[in-house]
Amino acid sequence: MSWIGFKTGSAPINALHGAPCPIFRKDFTCEKKVVSAALKITSLGVFKAYLNGESFSDDFLAPGWTDYTKRIPYCEYDLTDRIKENNKLEVIVADGWYTGRICWSLRERYGKYPLKLWAEITLTYEDGSVEKIETDKTWKASKSQTVYGDILCGEFRDLRIEPACDQPVEVLPDEYSHMMEPQKCPPVRLVEKLPVKKLSDTLWDTEQNFAGVVRFRLKGTPGAKIRFRYAELLGKDGKVYTENLRNARCTDYVILKGEGEETYEPCFTYHGFRYIEVCVEEGEAEVLEMTGLACHNDLTQVGSLKTDNALINQIYSNALWGLRSNFVATPTDCPQRDERLGWTADAQVFCPTAMYMYDCKGFYEKYMTDIRDAQRKDGGVINVAPYFNFLPITGVSAAWADAVTVIPYHHYLTYGDKKILQDNLPACKKWIAFCKKHSFFGIRPPVGFGDWLSIRNETNKGFIATAYYAYSARLVAEMCKIVGDEDEGYYRALSERIEKRMKKKYYKKGKIANDTQTAYTLACAFGFSDPAEIRNNLVRKIEENDGLLNTGFIGTRYLLPVLCEIGRGDLAYKLLGETRFPSWGYTVGQGATTIWERWDGYRSELANPFQNAGMNSYNHYSFGACIGWVYEYALGIRHTLDAVGPNNYIIHPAFDVTGTIKELSGTYNGISASWKVQEKTAEYRIKVPGGVRCKFVFDDKIEKEYEENGEKVFILSLG
Ligand code: BGC
Repeated sequence: MSWIGFKTGSAPINALHGAPCPIFRKDFTCEKKVVSAALKITSLGVFKAYLNGESFSDDFLAPGWTDYTKRIPYCEYDLTDRIKENNKLEVIVADGWYTGRICWSLRERYGKYPLKLWAEITLTYEDGSVEKIETDKTWKASKSQTVYGDILCGEFRDLRIEPACDQPVEVLPDEYSHMMEPQKCPPVRLVEKLPVKKLSDTLWDTEQNFAGVVRFRLKGTPGAKIRFRYAELLGKDGKVYTENLRNARCTDYVILKGEGEETYEPCFTYHGFRYIEVCVEEGEAEVLEMTGLACHNDLTQVGSLKTDNALINQIYSNALWGLRSNFVATPTDCPQRDERLGWTADAQVFCPTAMYMYDCKGFYEKYMTDIRDAQRKDGGVINVAPYFNFLPITGVSAAWADAVTVIPYHHYLTYGDKKILQDNLPACKKWIAFCKKHSFFGIRPPVGFGDWLSIRNETNKGFIATAYYAYSARLVAEMCKIVGDEDEGYYRALSERIEKRMKKKYYKKGKIANDTQTAYTLACAFGFSDPAEIRNNLVRKIEENDGLLNTGFIGTRYLLPVLCEIGRGDLAYKLLGETRFPSWGYTVGQGATTIWERWDGYRSELANPFQNAGMNSYNHYSFGACIGWVYEYALGIRHTLDAVGPNNYIIHPAFDVTGTIKELSGTYNGISASWKVQEKTAEYRIKVPGGVRCKFVFDDKIEKEYEENGEKVFILSLG
C-alpha cells in the first residue's frame, strides 16, 4: 500500500492559507470488459476526485475529520458505470484539517506538507480476472487550478490554469495504512440548494443563515478577478458584517478564463453566512446567478414539526438550520468564525433534539469515537473532539466532559443498540474515576464553563460539576445494568453518595446552590429533587425575572421539560412563545434565521446592537435544544428506559392552555401525531406504523377514544 505526495510550494508556507493545491493524475486502460470498478480513496488533506473529467460524487471535504494521528477514514465509490476503455482519474487535494489552520491555532496540526493521497481501484473483468490500480510512482502531479483552498481562509481558483500533471510524485513511507478504516457515517455533502436574491450589484442575500458555499454563474473578460466575502448579518452601513468571523478570512477569489459563461463553486472551504458581497477587483465581470449550497453530513431526516404559530415555526426552522449548519464532519459549535470545533457540551445538550430531526446513529457513533480518541490518559474528557495538537482545547469542564455519558445514553434510548454502551463504557468509567480523583469527598471543584452564556445569572460552578458527576455516575450504573457489567452496584452507590454530599453542601434552607433557574432545573432534571420540591422555587425565579428565562447552555437544555415535570407546562409554552428579551422569539424578532450563540447577540434597540465580536456567533445550535422539548413533551413522543429504540415509545403529550400553540402536528420515525386545543378540549390524533408499540399516558381526562382512518383519536378535557 503506498501513499503518494506532491509539494507545490516551498517554505515558508503562507501562514493564512497554505500552499497551492496539488492535482494527482493516473491514466489507465481497460483492455477487457469491466464488470465492476470499485474505488477506495483517502487523503491527508481533503480531496475532490474526477473520473474522465467528471466528478462522481457530491461528497464535500472528504474524507472528513478525525484525529488523523489515530485513524484515517477512507471513502468507497462504485465507478462501474463510468469506466471506459481509456480512463483518467484526477484528484485534487487541499489542506483541510490536516495542514490547514483549525480554530485559532497555527497550521499543520496533524502533519506537514506534502498533502498525501492514497487510492486503489479494483477492476473486475468479465473473465473473472481482477486488476488493481494503486497510488504509486506511475502517478503524475502538478499544481491545480486551486491556488489555495483553506477551510477558514477561503478558496482561490484560477480558471485559466490547465494543470499539466507532468511531474513525478513522491512515494511516501507507509506510516498511515494501519490507521485506515472505512468511513463510519454518511459523509458531508452539498445537500440543500438555496435561491439567492440580488440586492444590488455588490450584495446578494440567501435569506437563510447556513453553512456551505455558493455556485456562481459568471461572465467576464479574460483574467477578470472577483472577490467574494460572506457574512451572517449586515452592519449599520448596510455592508457585510465580518467582525465576528475573527481571524477566519472567509473570502473566495476566482479568476475567469473569459470565454463566455463560466461556473465557479468552491470545493475546499465552507462559510457560515447569509449574505454574499461581490467585488470585481480586476477586469470586468458580472455575476449572472448564485445558488446557495448547504453542506452537512448527509443524514436522513426523520422528524418534522408544524404549528399554527408562525413564531414557533420559525424557532423550529432556526434549530433545524442550526443542525444543518453544524453537522459538518463533527458536531461543531458554529460554522463561521475561526473556531468550528466539536465542543462537547454543545453536542450533548443538543443531541436529543438532533435525534428527533435526523437519523444521527452513525454520526454520533463516529463522534464518540473521536471523544474516546481524545480522552486524556488520566481519564479527563477534553472539551472538543476530534483532538488536534493545540493546548487550549485539552482542558476538562463539567457538562462538556459529561458528553461521554450523556450522548451514548440518549443514543441507546433512541436507537436501542447496546453497542454504543459497550463501546463507550470503559471511557465513561475512566471519566468517573477522573472526577473521583479530582473531588473532595464527592464535591467537584468550582471550575469549568458553568452554565455558559446565561444572562447575568451564573449558577455555582461547583454545584453544576457535582450534579453532573452524580448524574453521570448514575448513567454509568444504568449502562452497566443494560450491558450486564458487574460494576452497576458500585456506580449506583457512588452516585447516591455524591448526591447526598451535594445536597449537604448545596441544599440550604429550602434553596439550592445560589438560587438560580438553572440550579432548580438541574436538580429536578437529574432526579435529585422531587418536582414538587423545586416547583415553587423555579416558578419564583421565573417570576422574579419578569416571567423570563435567564439560563445558559446547561440550564436551557432542561428548563422546558422540567417545567412540564413540575406541572407548569403553561410556563414552558409561555417561555417558548415569548418575544421579549431574552427569548428565542426575541432573536426571531431581530431577524434570526438560525439559533444564536448568545441571547443578546444583536439588540437593535441599543446604540451598538452587536454583542462583542470576539465571541458572537449567529449560528450556534445549543439553545435550539428547546425543539427536543416540542417533540418529547408538546407532541409527547418519548423514549424512556422502559421504551427504548425505534419500536417503543411513551406517548405523553402536554397540551397548551396558554394559546401559544393551538394546533401542533409532527412526524417522527414514521409516526404522525397532531393535536388541536379549543377552549378546554384537546383532540389528539396519532398514527403509528405496524410493529411499533406505544404506551399512552395522559395527564388530562379522556372523554372519548376512537379510531378513524387508521388514526387513534383521543378527546380530552383539560384540567
Ligand atoms: C464555543 C462554545 C463552547 C465554549 C466553551 C466557545 O468558544 O463557541 O460553544 O462550548 O467556547 O465554553
